[in-house]
Amino acid sequence: MTPTLKIDGLKLGFKTHAGMIEVLHGISLHIRKGERVALVGESGSGKSVTARIVLGMLQQLKTARISGGIEFEGRDLQRMSARERHALRGTSMSMIFQDPTSSLNPVYTVGALFQEVLSRAHSGMSAGDMRKMAIEALSDVAIGEPERVLDSYAFQLSGGMNQRVMIAMALANNPSLLLADEPGTALDVTVQAQTLKLMSALVEKHHTSVLFISHNLGVVREFADRVYVIYKGNIVEQGPTAALFDDPRHPYTRALLSAVPRITGGGIPDIDDGVADFLAPLVAHEGFSEKELLA
Ligand SMILES: Nc1ncnc2c1ncn2[C@@H]1O[C@H](COP(=O)(O)OP(=O)(O)OP(=O)(O)O)[C@@H](O)[C@H]1O
Ligand SMILES: [Mg+2]
Repeated sequence: MTPTLKIDGLKLGFKTHAGMIEVLHGISLHIRKGERVALVGESGSGKSVTARIVLGMLQQLKTARISGGIEFEGRDLQRMSARERHALRGTSMSMIFQDPTSSLNPVYTVGALFQEVLSRAHSGMSAGDMRKMAIEALSDVAIGEPERVLDSYAFQLSGGMNQRVMIAMALANNPSLLLADEPGTALDVTVQAQTLKLMSALVEKHHTSVLFISHNLGVVREFADRVYVIYKGNIVEQGPTAALFDDPRHPYTRALLSAVPRITGGGIPDIDDGVADFLAPLVAHEGFSEKELLA
């Protein structure tokens, strides 16, 4: 079966005043349909630029030099026009960023932003039908008062609610690939954990393929089926999550793993543990009802 994403020998350099800076040195990775793949590595190793190339956003940059193969659902991205790549964004592939509040345009209501996203995949759909779809999408991410949220601006909502709005928008058009670049790391850890659980349930339901970028190996362990470790623009190790965590081969992977704090054993806190402290902030600030959380 054709993989959702296949990157082959991808190289990236930037032209600067001081000459060329080589950032990616020929990385290869693939994501099968419905697979959740994590890309982990230290700051500056080349994680975000990889996602931006897949989204077709670096191709327009005059200073970027890109070579190698990138196939999305069997189609060669590099041979597509900027217009064709643009048409894929927000429809067949979408992205969730680190800081939801600053990523949502502050001059439009959530409802208007939703309409813009939905109209990319459903041209000709009535405003009323789009609103219905948006309400459903917000309900899917456990937003209790979707009507109120649709009429709000991002700055009127909490960070955790904005994160869920962003997840709902990113998945609204049922993309085959979701790129999640350090999702929610700007949030409180408990809120981040809860929103990741929601995202996880939704991508599972829709068989969405995911490229999950993170430096939090605890979260990666919970979320990903397979992991690629990137170090200074090279993939130094890859494998199924459990195998890689149990028996890391590359010294850099070992170093990364040894840096994981072991306060709680890592990973996403499980709400079934009944930790009252974990639920309290979600109920107080994030608009979850206790019933939703304990369901
Ligand atoms: N537009 C650009 N021009 C020049 N260099 C760039 C540009 N964008 C990224 N880089 C460089 O490419 C390298 C990789 O950046 P990237 O943002 O992918 O890192 P990252 O792995 O996502 O790190 P972090 O974990 O901090 O987000 C960095 O050295 C960065 O400075
Ligand atoms: Mg980054």
